[in-house]
Amino acid sequence: MDNKKVANIRESLFKAHQKFATSTSKTNIEELFAADPERISSHTIDIHQIHFDYSKALLNAESRELLFELCKACGIEDAIKSMFAGEKINTSENRSVLHTALRDLHSRESKPEVLDTLNKIENFVSSVREGRRTSSDNKKIETVVNIGIGGSDLGPALVVDALNQFHEKDIDVRFVSNLDPSHLKRTLQLVDPQTTLFIIASKSFSTLETLANANAAKTWLLEKGIKSVSVSKHFAAITNNPGFASDFGVEGDCIFPMWDWVGGRFSLWSAIGLPIALAVGYKNFLDLLCGAHAADMHFYEAPLDKNIPVIMAILTYWYREYFQAGSTAVIPYSQDLALFPSYLQQLSMESLGKSVTRDGEEVKGKTGDVIWGSSGTNGQHSYFQLLHQGTEFIPIEFIAVVNPAPGIDTDQHSKLLANCIGQSFALIRGNNQNKNSSRHSPGSRPSNTLLLYQLDPFSLGSLLALYEHKIFALSVLWDVNAFDQWGVEFGKETAKEIYKEFEKEGGPETDEYDQSTQELLKIIKKWSSKKKNEA
Ligand code: F6P
Repeated sequence: MDNKKVANIRESLFKAHQKFATSTSKTNIEELFAADPERISSHTIDIHQIHFDYSKALLNAESRELLFELCKACGIEDAIKSMFAGEKINTSENRSVLHTALRDLHSRESKPEVLDTLNKIENFVSSVREGRRTSSDNKKIETVVNIGIGGSDLGPALVVDALNQFHEKDIDVRFVSNLDPSHLKRTLQLVDPQTTLFIIASKSFSTLETLANANAAKTWLLEKGIKSVSVSKHFAAITNNPGFASDFGVEGDCIFPMWDWVGGRFSLWSAIGLPIALAVGYKNFLDLLCGAHAADMHFYEAPLDKNIPVIMAILTYWYREYFQAGSTAVIPYSQDLALFPSYLQQLSMESLGKSVTRDGEEVKGKTGDVIWGSSGTNGQHSYFQLLHQGTEFIPIEFIAVVNPAPGIDTDQHSKLLANCIGQSFALIRGNNQNKNSSRHSPGSRPSNTLLLYQLDPFSLGSLLALYEHKIFALSVLWDVNAFDQWGVEFGKETAKEIYKEFEKEGGPETDEYDQSTQELLKIIKKWSSKKKNEA
């Protein structure tokens, strides 16, 4: 990172923004099209059946060029190479960051442990499917319940849901994550203990929520009459701590490895993807990895001005730093991608919610923004009013799938697409109602659009990997470590301390807590003992 150069470019960007913002306040984004007949060709990129269009960005030629210069001054090209080469870029934990190696299956760099684990996944999936690996009662496994949280839940849950058209119908895969016992309880009401396999997905095998749910699942199996000697037949585990899984009672051949060079939120490509492979079959899981690898190669090889993740990153940077955008709305016009915003929340906000640079200095400007959204068209009937006419500046990322899955009504699907395109168009054009009229829509509200030819394992793999790389590129621009999450760790420790208060008799005697915390603890204890006495 060339700090002096970065400071100069940021200064030029500030001036460019001032000039640009003043000129565009009189006009709208459509004038940028008029000013540049080549805007569509320079602001669209196609890779592997994904079309990326950022021509509706609030970005002119001058600021775009400066942002590419900024990327270079921040050392983005070297940073990309360092990540792929396995350098220890997660400095606070002294770890490499090699989720890309999980999908690099056919090169000289392919990792033997990755290939071995894929073999193990393939064998496990076929033995479950073919009924060679059975439950304690020699019954075929019909339900898989994945118990995990954060990265051990959100990615696999999204993919399993998104690829519902590819499900092999004989296995039903469900996900339980929340510490709230009702999450597991409600799931267990729907499944048969005799034919259920639990996957305990936890890199650390020490996450409170996951261990609580895993223990509750074991208790439930025993209560339902599964003999304690054979309860292990109902468990598999994925972890970087195999000893802990074995102590829990998972058999060695059902423990799948994780490595410290795979971050939780980047781990769906590892054995954490086992529920995906069980739901959609091993071949489709491989296609997912291949799609991600294709996006990896794009990120690694494409020049900056043709590089989708880099461009997504510079836009977020530009809006965040110079337009004070506090959030980005991510809106997939696809019910199959309805879980994408919550997956992306962890991926982005756990990675970029940082206030200290990689060199341990306090961050001067902004870092990660709030990611939110839901599927279109549902969003149109809740928060789109604010997007069209509110006072917040909120850039939007639209995602749409052009060809629906077989059996889907194509006319209804066309209406869905028309709504997606119609929204982004209306947002830039606005209307010419009187400025003081409640009908006035100002226009010039920027968005990007990602079109997928169809939603299949390959295109989904590419889509998710593009976003992973967008987030990495942003971390380089902001000079933060995208791969640690010390804030989450801090929060976990605090909850453990508070829990000790529940185990004590009487109210909290400590003045270690603020008055609100003490009072809340007192009320919870009082009300729960009242309820116990009533019972
Ligand atoms: O939410 C914090 C976190 O550490 C995530 O990064 C991780 O994905 C999640 O907890 C679950 O961790 P584990 O897989 O170790 O149970």
